[in-house]
Amino acid sequence: MISRRLPGSFESNALSREIAAFRAQGRPFLDLTSSNPTRCGLPYPEAGILAALAAPSVLAYDPDPRGAARAREAVAAWHGVDPGDLVLTASTSEAYGWLFKLLCDPGDQVLVPSPSYPLFHWLAALEGVEARQVPALRTDRWDLDFQALAGAATPRTRAVVVVNPNNPTGQFLSREEWPRLLAFCAERGLALLVDEVFADYALEPAPDHLPTALGEADPPCPLFVLSGLSKIAALPQIKLGWIVARGAPARACLEPLAFIADQYLSVSAPALAAAGPLLALAPGIQAGLRARLASNLAALDAELARRPSLSRARVEGGWSAILRVPALEPGEDLALRLLREAGVLIHPGHFFDLPGDGHLVCSLLPADFPEGIGRVGKSIAPAGGK
Ligand SMILES: Cc1ncc(COP(=O)(O)O)c(C=O)c1O
Repeated sequence: MISRRLPGSFESNALSREIAAFRAQGRPFLDLTSSNPTRCGLPYPEAGILAALAAPSVLAYDPDPRGAARAREAVAAWHGVDPGDLVLTASTSEAYGWLFKLLCDPGDQVLVPSPSYPLFHWLAALEGVEARQVPALRTDRWDLDFQALAGAATPRTRAVVVVNPNNPTGQFLSREEWPRLLAFCAERGLALLVDEVFADYALEPAPDHLPTALGEADPPCPLFVLSGLSKIAALPQIKLGWIVARGAPARACLEPLAFIADQYLSVSAPALAAAGPLLALAPGIQAGLRARLASNLAALDAELARRPSLSRARVEGGWSAILRVPALEPGEDLALRLLREAGVLIHPGHFFDLPGDGHLVCSLLPADFPEGIGRVGKSIAPAGGK
C-alpha cells in the first residue's frame, strides 16, 4: 500500500531508543548533538526578529512562484547576485526536492561524495531518485575522488551534490578541486548542486579553500547554489531557503523550476516579508554564533591537550567537529556507553558515513559543550589516554 520510496521499517536504532527512555524517565543528559541554534542559549535580537515578522504585507496573498520580488532582492543583495536568478523555497531541504524533480526521472541517480549530510538519501529517495554515495579519498582530509566519481557515473546519472563547507567534516572544496569538478560535470552533461548553508562559518579554513561557488559566473555546466535563513541567520523556524542559478545552463532551467514552485507556493507571507529585515540582522546573529563556535572549539582543544589518545579533524567551517578516538568498540556501543555512564549524547561517526569506528561527531553549538566534552574525555581516556 505504501510507496517503495519510503523506508521499509520505521524502527528506531538503539541510540534513539535509549534517548527516548532517558526522556521518558526524566533523566537529564548533555546533548552534544544539538544543532538547533534556537535551543543553545545564543543571543538573538528578539525585538528585531518579531518586528520583521509583523509587516503589513503579511495580511495579503500575492503569490509569485519564484518568491516575492522584494524578498528575492534582499537575498540577491546578500549574495551579490541577480534577483532574477533566484527561486525561493520553504527550506534548503525543499530546494533539493525541487531540483531533483527538475533534473531527474524516477530511477535516475545523483552522485554524493561521502561522508556528507545524511538527509540526502531520503530527500532523493522521496523523489524516486538514488543518491549514490562516492567515498572521498582519505588522506589528512577528505578529497574528492574523481576516479571513483567517474566509476560511479552511469547513463542515468544527472547531477553531483556537494556541500561547501561540508557537514559534518567542515571541509571546504579546494581551489584545485573546483575546476576539476566543473569539468567532470560538463563532460558528462551533469548538473552541479552546491549546498552552501554553512559558507559564512569559516573557522580554520585551508589557504586554498573555495569560499563560495557563487564566484563562478560562467560555469560550463548547470550550477545551482543552495542556502537559506536556517544557517545564515540561525533561524530554521522561519522556513526560508533558496536556489541561485549560476550561468546560462542553469538560468535556462529557471522557468521549469518556477513551474515546480508554482504547484506548491510554499513560502509563507511572513517569511517573504521578513527576508530583508532578517538578513539585515544576520551579521549580528552570526557574530554571536561564531563566538560560541570559537569558544567551544577552544574548550575541545583544551580537553584534547589533556588526553593524548584523542584528537580532532581540522574544523575548516560549519557547526560541528569530528573527534578521533581509539577504535576499541563499535561506534554505537561507545555512544550508548557515553550516554549511560557519562550522561552525554554524542553521535557515532557512522551516522554520517565516516569510515569504520573511532570517530565521534559533536555539535559546537551547545552552551554546556565544555562540561559535556570534559565528561566525554574523562570517560574515553580516563588516565590521560596512555
Ligand atoms: C548541509 C545541510 N544542508 C541543508 C540543511 C537543511 O537546511 P534547511 O533547514 O534550510 O532545510 C542542513 C541542516 O542541518 C544541512 O546541514
